[in-house]
Amino acid sequence: MSTIEKALARKAAKDTNETSTSVSERKVEKEEVTPSDSPESAAPKTDDRVAKVLNIDTENLKDRGYLIDTGERKSIKDEFRQIKRKLLENAFGNAAKLLHHPNLIMVSSAKPNEGKTFVAINLALSIALEQDKKVLLVDADVLRPSINRELGLEQSEGLIDYLLKPEKNVSDILFQTSINNLRVIPAGQPHHLSNELLASERMAALASELATRYPDRVVIFDCPPLIGVTETLVLANLVGQALVVVEESKTTIASIKAATESLNEDLALGIVMNKAIRSHKDLYGYYGYGYGESE
Ligand SMILES: Nc1ncnc2c1ncn2[C@@H]1O[C@H](COP(=O)(O)OP(=O)(O)OP(=O)(O)O)[C@@H](O)[C@H]1O
Ligand SMILES: [Mg+2]
Repeated sequence: MSTIEKALARKAAKDTNETSTSVSERKVEKEEVTPSDSPESAAPKTDDRVAKVLNIDTENLKDRGYLIDTGERKSIKDEFRQIKRKLLENAFGNAAKLLHHPNLIMVSSAKPNEGKTFVAINLALSIALEQDKKVLLVDADVLRPSINRELGLEQSEGLIDYLLKPEKNVSDILFQTSINNLRVIPAGQPHHLSNELLASERMAALASELATRYPDRVVIFDCPPLIGVTETLVLANLVGQALVVVEESKTTIASIKAATESLNEDLALGIVMNKAIRSHKDLYGYYGYGYGESE
């Protein structure tokens, strides 16, 4: 094969790849059972999990502004690609050696309603759809869970059930979805000690298990806000990277400072600027990102 033919073949292969990973064209695929997904102890339950592939309506997601091209301003896809690159570099590149659990990433913000879930889901979709990487999205905002609602999932068992019941295995609460590379751990049943459970030893053990059992996988935690929820800081000690969502023109410098100053200094800290611009024909936000000190 000539060099040009090889280049064309590579491009054709790349194009095929990209098409097969686009959100709209994803088909429901069965969970491929890999050894890391089905530890010996959980083996008998594997079939249950295959039966419980959670279906995500990607058309509906697109309609609500998740990871689609607007055709006008720089697309949301491109914006998340940039954020993702930096996170993946930290997770699997040279910087990974300097971080504890670099593949665990928390998404939080100073206060409620600044776009944590929106960013966490888009980031997970971005990694699942475009990379040769599996991603696990964990709804750790257990007091105000919204991953199930946003993704249109009905599965109610999840993180809280695991933290409350020692007999539960990770595989009981970790679900494959109809988006091939995306797994989800929902928040689970509401419980009056939800937030306290996030600071439990079992949660720390779970984080370690997720980090080491799936070292090639990115785990994204949609977390409660940093201000006013002390458990979020405990969670921050379990992960290697933190993304703090800032709503442009709303989040004050003082609250960004208050939110980030207590964070573990060893964390790779990223700031995502989320500016929701809403008008009758434009529903999508703009993202910027920066790494390092937030001051
Ligand atoms: N960039 C954006 N463009 C359009 N809508 C957005 C954007 N960011 C957030 N939203 C919308 O704003 C609302 C709040 O966002 P989201 O639920 O992600 O915030 P949150 O920080 O997770 O809130 P909570 O603290 O309640 O968990 C949602 O309705 C979401 O769809
Ligand atoms: Mg949320």
